Amino acid sequence: MDRVIDTMDVDDILDGMIVDDDIYNDHWILLAPKGGILTVDKIALLKKSHIKTVNIRIPVSSVTERADFKEFTENYDKQLDQAQEAIKSISDGALVDMDDLYSMTSGIMDTLKCKSDVFTYLGFLHEYDDYTFSHSSNVALLANVFSQWMKFEEEDVRDLTIAGMLHDIGKTKVPIEILNKPAKLTEDEFKVIQLHTINGYTILKDRPIPNRIKLAALNHHERINGMGYPRKIGSDKIDQFSKIISICDVYDAMTANRCYRGKLCPFDVIGKLETQSYGEMDTNYLIAFLKHIAYNYLNSWVRLSNDDEAEIIFINPTELTRPIVKIRGHAFNLAENREVKIVSIL
Ligand SMILES: [Fe+2]
Ligand SMILES: [Fe+2]
Repeated sequence: MDRVIDTMDVDDILDGMIVDDDIYNDHWILLAPKGGILTVDKIALLKKSHIKTVNIRIPVSSVTERADFKEFTENYDKQLDQAQEAIKSISDGALVDMDDLYSMTSGIMDTLKCKSDVFTYLGFLHEYDDYTFSHSSNVALLANVFSQWMKFEEEDVRDLTIAGMLHDIGKTKVPIEILNKPAKLTEDEFKVIQLHTINGYTILKDRPIPNRIKLAALNHHERINGMGYPRKIGSDKIDQFSKIISICDVYDAMTANRCYRGKLCPFDVIGKLETQSYGEMDTNYLIAFLKHIAYNYLNSWVRLSNDDEAEIIFINPTELTRPIVKIRGHAFNLAENREVKIVSIL
């Protein structure tokens, strides 16, 4: 349980709240000690002594303590085993069961009261040994939420989710020592990794599933400026599904806890995607995606680089990574105080 400090008017204080500083009257008589509980009598005494505001400790349950998060991780672990088995068997020639594949994602999503929480929860999952399969599950979840944000038709939501689950199926054909190599890849090894797009398309191409799912496996590393792979096709030749999957793909790769890089705060990822992906990803989808993520953290508690804890109270639409936050009762605009930034979600 994390605790944050908020400055409250004495009139708003409720019985049972915990005070964060020693409170004295004008004659330096201690009215309430730091860490003490404010009872009805104590609150009355503070008012009588003309105390105007008090720093109060507010308990905040961290994400990992939430019952909803615990249920999410249990479901996620269960579905991950099934997803891994399904992807491997499809790669070995088994039939593609669309309903089965979709249920692996929808089964997790259906348990969430707020669908957008998936963005927060994915950031708090522990590291999984087999990155490819947890990454495929994550991209399916992200594609599912994104398509719902975009108000896509049910069939499109389903197909896009499955496209997320199968986008890296070609990686089952990449030697494991290259796939999981912790050090930087050599040029030749990178060429082998790049083949997962063509391999994925080859695995899926003769299956009775929508063409757009097959194309997402082939084109999710293409970039609108023609600098992607495998064919270096530009924006007008890249299909809609591949454009969306590529955004979810990069977002998950950036937030994942990889052995060679620490976990990134979602606001850092938004900043990185804004600067690095402009001109590479479809601009409309990218802006919509990043806006929804940022707005998802409205009213969340965060830690700032100056070690203050703060509540996000307003998202600056023109500067998503620098919202207005509230610190001990005072608004603090991160867009105007550029030396301070958000470092983590509490
Ligand atoms: Fe990929
Ligand atoms: Fe991927």
